[in-house]
Amino acid sequence: MKDLNNKVAVVTGAGSGIGRALASVLAARGCRLAISDVNEAGLAETVAACGGAEVRSYVLDVSDRDAIYAHAEQVRADFGQVNLVINNAGVALSATVREMTDDDFKWVMDIDFWGVAHGTRAFLPHLIASGDGHVVNISSVFGLIGVPKQSAYNAAKFAVRGFTESLRQEMKLENQPVQVSCVHPGGIRTNIANSARMGKSENGEAQRKGFDKIAMTTPNKAAEIIVRGILKNESRILVGPDAWGIDAINRLLGSAYQPLVERFSRKNLYV
Ligand SMILES: NC(=O)c1ccc[n+]([C@@H]2O[C@H](COP(=O)([O-])OP(=O)(O)OC[C@H]3O[C@@H](n4cnc5c(N)ncnc54)[C@H](O)[C@@H]3O)[C@@H](O)[C@H]2O)c1
Repeated sequence: MKDLNNKVAVVTGAGSGIGRALASVLAARGCRLAISDVNEAGLAETVAACGGAEVRSYVLDVSDRDAIYAHAEQVRADFGQVNLVINNAGVALSATVREMTDDDFKWVMDIDFWGVAHGTRAFLPHLIASGDGHVVNISSVFGLIGVPKQSAYNAAKFAVRGFTESLRQEMKLENQPVQVSCVHPGGIRTNIANSARMGKSENGEAQRKGFDKIAMTTPNKAAEIIVRGILKNESRILVGPDAWGIDAINRLLGSAYQPLVERFSRKNLYV
């Protein structure tokens, strides 16, 4: 996809943060937009941020498989085609493996992994039919390295990466007109820490403050980087200097990155 003008773009989780910024950057580049979220008020603010572009908003819970498939049909009917799908909706949880509840673990997997997997599979026939499609799945730097108290999020984001990298190769081997990118943001200043669930021993306030300190990239900058990566058909889009650093450490050290993370976590996460 060399040009976004008049392309139909779907963005999930567009009521806040990276999703909202993506919607506004894509609108500025001439996309026609189908944005969705569970947060209706957030969606209305995003529509206002899209400066008069053609935008339809849909209330969609990405953890509801049947709702995603119905949404894909609805968007195709409303716009006549679908070119770009960005599976962005996500949530966070801070809890150890020992302490996290099954309910919280399932909540993260249902949204952060299954939301992405169903979003991809539901829209794929429409993307192929468009003749010029692109799937963008939002993983994380936590899809590159494991971090204490992030096992559920790590599991979901590593799974998104594996699923997405596999799909990219399948689309090439089958000569399908669909490009595929996996996005690994570092810390982005959004609401994600505010809406995160916490294990019962976690100090939520301290963790949120810690996140605000280390999140170095704005959502708008993140959206610009992602859109540039889409236009360059990058398979892996790293967002922010911290993401580049983490990717480099991972490549250089292999599994020996873990003592470094332990040292960082002892000071910052076990507070
Ligand atoms: N902020 C970061 O530092 C960071 C880093 C790496 C990856 N990410 C990923 O980026 C994506 C966007 O997160 P963000 O940082 O913009 O967070 P955010 O909280 O600002 O936005 C996430 C949006 O997803 C929506 N959402 C939550 N559950 C949903 C559901 N079941 N169905 C539909 N929508 C739902 C929320 O209402 C919200 O509008 C997520 O996948 C997140 O994991 C964020």
